Amino acid sequence: MANDSESDFPFSQACENNKYPILEHLKTLLTGFQSVLEIGSGTGQHALYFAQSLPNLTWHSSDVASNLASLSRRIVHASLENLPEPIRLDVDRRPWGCGRFDAVFTANSLHIMSESSVENLFVEIPDHLNAQAQLLIYGPFKYKGAFTTASNASFDEWLKERNPVSGVRDFEWINALAQRAGLRLKQDLSMPANNQLLVWDKHSSARP
Ligand SMILES: C[S@@+](CC[C@H](N)C(=O)[O-])C[C@H]1O[C@@H](n2cnc3c(N)ncnc32)[C@H](O)[C@@H]1O
Repeated sequence: MANDSESDFPFSQACENNKYPILEHLKTLLTGFQSVLEIGSGTGQHALYFAQSLPNLTWHSSDVASNLASLSRRIVHASLENLPEPIRLDVDRRPWGCGRFDAVFTANSLHIMSESSVENLFVEIPDHLNAQAQLLIYGPFKYKGAFTTASNASFDEWLKERNPVSGVRDFEWINALAQRAGLRLKQDLSMPANNQLLVWDKHSSARP
């Protein structure tokens, strides 16, 4: 609605805090890129901020049907040329049918989805990446089965109480899924609040 103000939209404090350090990396990582598909855009705060800050990129937000209306409100209200209306995208509803992008980005979604949904995401991803594309995943991860901090272990417990299929994922498992999808780990960046920004690119021999 035209009269909506920012305070009328769903809000995540975590998203507000982490958008700044994430952007600092995106500025470099996405140089020369033209299109990004974001999976699980949630409140749309990331989509809006990154689209405003990176005007040469078209930022395609998306989410499951149940979250699409509230996400759309923020995106449509922003009325930015490089921020089209969100795509309805549930990683389990394959094929996604939304075309190819220079990058796929997702934040704080893998620990919410079930393991089978995470697997579906990686099976589908190669069909949505252009030749030199990157996959960027932000969130907390375990390494060799161990939490990086006690607070991430508590977060994992909290997630599982909410929904037993959720949980902080193992970096090694995610990286193995990525490799199976024809991706090669390029960077594992430590971020504030015990999170990582993981970046993969396509093997030059991978299918287009
Ligand atoms: C914790 S929120 C993160 C939202 C936002 N990316 C952020 O960083 O604030 C998790 C997001 O994953 C989305 N999600 C959960 N299951 C999904 C699925 N099967 N396919 C696509 N998105 C899904 C949720 O709707 C939600 O938007």
